[in-house]
Amino acid sequence: MYAAFRSIGSYIPQNILTNQDLEKMVDTSDEWIVKRTGIKERRIANADEATSDLGYKAALQAIERSEIDITEIDMIVCATLSPDYLTMPSTAAMISKKLGIKNVMAFDISAACTGFVYLMSLAKAFVESGAKKNVLIIGAEKISSIIDYTDRSTCILFGDGAGAAVISATEDKNEAIIDVLASADGNFGELLITPGCGSVNPIREDNVNDKLQYMKMAGNEVFKVAVKTLTKDVIEILKKNKIDASEVDMFIPHQANFRIVEAVRAKLNFPVEKCAMTVAKYGNTSSASIPMAMNDLYEEGKIKNGDLMLLDAFGGGFTWGSALVRFAGKNFSS
Ligand code: ACO
Repeated sequence: MYAAFRSIGSYIPQNILTNQDLEKMVDTSDEWIVKRTGIKERRIANADEATSDLGYKAALQAIERSEIDITEIDMIVCATLSPDYLTMPSTAAMISKKLGIKNVMAFDISAACTGFVYLMSLAKAFVESGAKKNVLIIGAEKISSIIDYTDRSTCILFGDGAGAAVISATEDKNEAIIDVLASADGNFGELLITPGCGSVNPIREDNVNDKLQYMKMAGNEVFKVAVKTLTKDVIEILKKNKIDASEVDMFIPHQANFRIVEAVRAKLNFPVEKCAMTVAKYGNTSSASIPMAMNDLYEEGKIKNGDLMLLDAFGGGFTWGSALVRFAGKNFSS
């Protein structure tokens, strides 16, 4: 049995936070943000929208496009660093409730911006083992809920959104997800961290006053490791599977920063038109960034049935991973 990537869907919140808006909130400028990151605007969910609301809408679209009946979904996994609730219930459980899916395994994973690649690895393993037939995977983030909008080093980077996919069993090897590599190194944990509200710094007045509930990042140090690791990842997975870079139809790296994506793309010699680049309009949406970018390309007709996609991600942990995936869904029709 093989695992096939059947469909993609996304949800993009309506509210737009521009660089000009941020100029009024912190000491920054549109010029600095565009030059250092390529980001022009990002989306922010409504106050009454939870991460599971974003994930639910992306999931509905992915299920509809998969042409698989919703009752056939037998596992739901959500990757998020901004869950509905700190410990429980899981965001995946909340999404299952909204979808009306009962009695299937639903749980979250924590792999920061590499979340969607980790999900691919999980879904592939469950389907190939025969344990599950139709796995719904979701990367959903309301990152605005863990951002300090007085901290210019993080608030300019991140946005909200969600993407989802259905991974299904197939006997056709031509449809199979080819390979997923994923890894982590906790020695870098403190460079990209939400220090508060866990067991190390529990929810207490002093910790909240110190703003430990918000994300902190040593951006410059993360940047260097990100470029190196993202490049190494791609070389490794292509070599392992004896696939030449020229065979890849679409390179879809995590959208953290234009400079990171561009450095990796150029090092690997992927043509500009074969590389996803959505960071200008969405910012960094962590686990949602790859499926949101993939959905845009799909709706633009740039990902079609049989196309070979190469995913590449890097994030807090540190975590990283890459995936070689054939798109096995139907072509987009509006
Ligand atoms: N506006 C204006 N100036 C700023 C801003 C801002 N928003 N932020 C920082 N600066 C200043 C700094 O204070 C510093 O000033 P100084 O030279 O006087 O000290 C100067 O600009 C340069 O700061 P750097 O941090 O060195 O800027 P850099 O070029 O590295 O860009 C950035 C920062 C955009 C954060 C970049 O390092 C980056 O993209 N890092 C990687 C992010 C990433 O990939 N994260 C991984 C995935 S995310 C996840 O897993 C959740």
